[in-house]
Amino acid sequence: MVEVIRAKKSDEANLENLLQLYLLEFSEIDGSQVSNDGRFEYPHLTQYWGEPDRHPFLFKVDGAPAGFALVKKGSEVVGDDKSMDVAEFFVIRNQRLKGTGRTAFKEIVRMFPGPWIVRVVDGYEKALAFWRRAIPSVATSGFDSEAIDDGQRKWIVFSFAYAVSDAGSRSPSHAQPSK
Ligand SMILES: CC(C)(COP(=O)(O)OP(=O)(O)OC[C@H]1O[C@@H](n2cnc3c(N)ncnc32)[C@H](O)[C@@H]1OP(=O)(O)O)[C@@H](O)C(=O)NCCC(=O)NCCS
Repeated sequence: MVEVIRAKKSDEANLENLLQLYLLEFSEIDGSQVSNDGRFEYPHLTQYWGEPDRHPFLFKVDGAPAGFALVKKGSEVVGDDKSMDVAEFFVIRNQRLKGTGRTAFKEIVRMFPGPWIVRVVDGYEKALAFWRRAIPSVATSGFDSEAIDDGQRKWIVFSFAYAVSDAGSRSPSHAQPSK
């Protein structure tokens, strides 16, 4: 069973450990290096317990740690301060390709109805494949994707919305991207 748990301040060290696994994997894409202490730097983590628009989550599968997500309101890359933005999202290797990521993602999106943004570094094909499959399972009216160069990186940016209907029913779209 996949559980999504809001991470408490006391979970920060656990989340930081998972974040190191994520950053190690991501370093194969962006070439980032560890600092002198042998760890990847991630200066934003502490902000997730100090700012109301930042939300840290841990995933568990059958009670064991399985991943994490960091989501926040507003995307600098897109210049949009209204949408929810998936800053980081990670499932540990031995829990992949079992639906863990999709289940956790859907649960998180349903906590924050409204517009959403997911950014992926252009060329990160595994992540792109995941988002193209996962987003339609929760988006209520399809999704768009566009390439954005913010001067530092090229991103593929997915945008979609999750709306709870007046009747309270939730009806994910199976539409394909419109561009
Ligand atoms: C990307 C990631 C979150 C996927 O998690 P996961 O638990 O394996 O994903 P799921 O099992 O829920 O897969 C959902 C769908 O995406 C597809 N998918 C997942 N990973 C895929 C991959 N590497 N290649 C192709 N398709 C993939 C699955 O086949 C599934 O498709 P389906 O609709 O046919 O069933 C995980 O591989 C990961 O953490 N990777 C490293 C970090 C990362 O890339 N994060 C995203 C950064 S933006």
